[in-house]
Amino acid sequence: MQIQQNISLRQYNTMGIGAMARLFSTFGTLDELQELAALSDADHLAKLVLGGGSNILLTGDFDGLVMKNELTGIDLLREDDHHLYVKAGAGESWHGFVQYCIGRGWAGVENLSLIPGNVGASPMQNIGAYGVEIKDVFEELEAYHLEERKILTFSNNDCGFGYRESVFKRQYRNRFVILSVTYRLNKIPRFNTSYGAIEQELEKMGVKELSIKAISEAVIRIRSSKLPDPAKIGNAGSFFKNPSVPAAQFEALKQNWPGIIGYANPDGTVKLAAGWLIEQCGWKGFRRGDAGCHEKQALVLVNYGNAKGADIYELSTEILDSVQDRFGVELEREVNII
Ligand code: FAD
Ligand code: EPU
Repeated sequence: MQIQQNISLRQYNTMGIGAMARLFSTFGTLDELQELAALSDADHLAKLVLGGGSNILLTGDFDGLVMKNELTGIDLLREDDHHLYVKAGAGESWHGFVQYCIGRGWAGVENLSLIPGNVGASPMQNIGAYGVEIKDVFEELEAYHLEERKILTFSNNDCGFGYRESVFKRQYRNRFVILSVTYRLNKIPRFNTSYGAIEQELEKMGVKELSIKAISEAVIRIRSSKLPDPAKIGNAGSFFKNPSVPAAQFEALKQNWPGIIGYANPDGTVKLAAGWLIEQCGWKGFRRGDAGCHEKQALVLVNYGNAKGADIYELSTEILDSVQDRFGVELEREVNII
């Protein structure tokens, strides 16, 4: 294990922000993590646990220790008539894990194909796409408590999952390092093609017999057609959450903007498409310096090269304010602001 000093984090975040870290180290074992935790405690350093860096915005240099999780390994723990319980190290690539499962016919994560980042952040964010969220396949996780220096196990209920939410994002922020996640996968697939675009894409692909591989391919094709590839343009996926409003407010908004897009939530509120709201405010394709709002997906803020985190943050504030002014709807950032 090598601790580096004053290094640029540009290659460690998909936004491509060139902020500096005072100290940086990877860890590939629990012993190494414990060593790093002890070192940062002794020197009273702030800590940042990093996976693939695909959901963070670095607003300035990080005056502390960045610990990049490289705990790997995928193990089939047990199986019963219907399910497979598969444990993956937090440092495994998420899409790599999805492909591993699809290759073995293990169903449940195919709709979550091509989401960047690592296994460890999947429950932290309760990642979701195309009708599926991690909470639907989550069995349990192991996490290291940085202050108490012990490993705890969290059940699905313990994680307090919500839309892009968990206890790790809120009350336990920066207190735990997720070490591994166990998923409950299905032997017999339950195909989920409810999300409109999937059906259309499968049809375009000429798929006659549904399979988890076909769904994964359809999802990959849809995502590639509208989301920017971080290897080409810096971004962190959706920058804001889709906001929910009471049904009455949605009806009132519809009077003024008949094209407004909303989906009914089970609790009777309506989830609005933030991308549509932002586009209506004229931001889609906007660029100032190297900070911008993507031309195909207004919910995605982008770094064309040398934008600073503060530039992107400032743009996000302007977008929040304009959506509030025009629609009276408050947007919330989905990306973790560091
Ligand atoms: P990081 O960015 O490294 O970390 C995110 C947060 O989790 C940070 O606060 C970090 O401190 C914390 N963290 C990371 N690992 C650990 C750990 N082991 N223990 C404790 N805390 C940890 N997300 C979706 O939900 N759905 C999508 O469809 C989607 N599409 C995307 C498309 C693109 C092009 C991009 C760039 C991003 C997209 N995202 C999407 C967002 C992102 O991929 C997910 O949030 C992903 O789970 C982040 O993983 P990561 O390893 O990169 O996390
Ligand atoms: N839309 C616009 N203008 C835009 C963008 C979108 O009008 O600029 C409209 C679309 O036409 C569509 C609706 O908004 O009618 C929803 O758009 P889309 O299907 O692209 O999904 P999204 O709501 O923008 C969410 C997630 C994505 C996830 C997709 C698919 C959030 C914050 N984002 O995006 O997750 O991949 O659905 O399930 O919930 C992420 O979290 O980073 C992410 C990319």
